[in-house]
Amino acid sequence: MSTQADPVPKQGSKAPAASCLYVPPPVEGYAAALARGRDLVRDAPSAVVLTGAGISAESGVPTFRGPDGLWRSFRPEDLATPAAFANDPLLVWQWYDWRRERIVVAKPNAGHRALVELEQALGPRCFTLVTQNVDGLHRLAGSAAVIHLHGDIWFVRCTVCEERHEERSVPLRPLPPRCACGGLLRPDVVWFNEPLPAGALEQAMAAVRATDLVLVIGTSSLVYPAAALPKIALEAHIPVVVVNLEPTPLWHSATVALQGAAAELLPQLVEGKVHRAVKAAQER
Ligand code: OAD
Repeated sequence: MSTQADPVPKQGSKAPAASCLYVPPPVEGYAAALARGRDLVRDAPSAVVLTGAGISAESGVPTFRGPDGLWRSFRPEDLATPAAFANDPLLVWQWYDWRRERIVVAKPNAGHRALVELEQALGPRCFTLVTQNVDGLHRLAGSAAVIHLHGDIWFVRCTVCEERHEERSVPLRPLPPRCACGGLLRPDVVWFNEPLPAGALEQAMAAVRATDLVLVIGTSSLVYPAAALPKIALEAHIPVVVVNLEPTPLWHSATVALQGAAAELLPQLVEGKVHRAVKAAQER
């Protein structure tokens, strides 16, 4: 297990300070940046999108590091590590059950839907959606293929026989749940100090290296290896468009950085591309 392959904050990096007051950026610079972002999306023959908790914030799913983020009220080492689960599986399951109860009532928002439209405009071979989210909202919105870097909260996995299956009962009872083989079931998510699901990172990296554009939506860009994906793109001179409520460590190196809500900005970013695809289909 290497540091690079673990979904843990990079050493020395700090969570951005919570901003109490959202100060909109200057209109002129903002309008120009938005126009540049729209042009990049419209003209790109292919795209990779990396999403984080911010894209689901407007669906009512809490983020991890924002002002109301989960890691402000809970300690990840108590709830999201293999050691925590070994120590107290019931406590860990109670926390995941509580999160599942919140997520099950959440609906995809305009940001999730815009990415479905972008996928349809580009076609499945020219579009890759990579998410750090475990909430399943991209799938629910209609995204056909999603690379889940940090697993999926709607799946469970046996700690003994490794059998994995979908489990949608909310609330889940009894806790902690057990496999038919008698082993303890765990949420099929990636915890701190664990490697990513086999092949997921490799698939995401290959997609980034082969793409024309990378969109980075609603992630603090603090957790590796996911945060390395846009850097791979920038090193290869592939443009990177960032959308976030507040500046992230990627802000100044990004080709375009847009401060605002994903549900508001994503539909604007993909609009031109979708119109072009519809027009092309009509002309055929
Ligand atoms: P974070 O909570 O670290 O960051 C969420 C980001 O979304 C922040 O930068 C916010 O500013 C931004 N944001 C919030 N609302 C937004 C909105 N409406 N529109 C756009 N941006 C918005 O979440 P992630 O970066 O996804 O891992 O966190 C990465 C990983 O850290 C998670 O997958 C999880 C966590 O520990 C594991 O549990 C393994």
